[in-house]
Amino acid sequence: MEKKISQISDIHFGEKNFSQHLKNNLLNQLKEENPDLIIVSGDLTTEGYIHEYEQAADFVDELRSITNTYTIPGNHDARNVGLIHFEKLIGHRKFTHIDKSGGFAIFGLDSSEPDINDGQIGIDQLNWLRKEMEKLPNDLCKIATFHHHLLPIPQTGRERNILLDSGDLLRLFSECGVDFVLNGHKHVPNVWMIEKMVVLNSGTATTRKLRGNTFPSHNQLLIHDNDIRVDLINTETGAKREMANYSVRLEQEEYVVCSHNHLLNHD
Ligand SMILES: [Fe+2]
Ligand SMILES: [Fe+2]
Repeated sequence: MEKKISQISDIHFGEKNFSQHLKNNLLNQLKEENPDLIIVSGDLTTEGYIHEYEQAADFVDELRSITNTYTIPGNHDARNVGLIHFEKLIGHRKFTHIDKSGGFAIFGLDSSEPDINDGQIGIDQLNWLRKEMEKLPNDLCKIATFHHHLLPIPQTGRERNILLDSGDLLRLFSECGVDFVLNGHKHVPNVWMIEKMVVLNSGTATTRKLRGNTFPSHNQLLIHDNDIRVDLINTETGAKREMANYSVRLEQEEYVVCSHNHLLNHD
């Protein structure tokens, strides 16, 4: 059984470095890859304005015509009371997706705060997540996604982008056996592994708001019974390269990532 998940992030309608060309490339790449699931991990807009959300809603409709798509808000989406447009035009701000045949479950959380760039998950969502995870069988791969960084990311400037309550979330994830975390936010692809948990960051798919030598990109996860591979796809050129791979197995009926190979360098 193979399941393909595309993680795209930081679309930023309304941003001066947003590119229609990159958006069209992205849609064509997604159509060609034909994933089972698309996750949009925040920052659909730039200022949270309604005209940006209207463009974002058309874009999300196009994604939904390709495959099952989930979106969560980022800090930019929460500017100017933008979350009311998010809920009306895009959908729920958190989600649960369980795919028993694919062997995984994904939880989406809203880490945004009105009008500030800082993010936090907050006690209500932490409690909700723990209850949701406790209902799950242990043999599923558990994946969580939210916009802000769980861990610091190299080459993102002075670190002020991790969640205010990242410690509480790390403890919850460790106790609940979360296997993969998918973040966006500062437009830098990255991969870390901590406590047998992979923390994967996605770049910006559709803008040239880029740091250093990074390029517009999105991530793709290929989930198999015994391994997971992560590819980085350049939205500008379509070039695809392997970013990481993992072997996975059941240990006493618990899903675990048992070895890893990280191939991304930070130059
Ligand atoms: Fe962003
Ligand atoms: Fe952001």
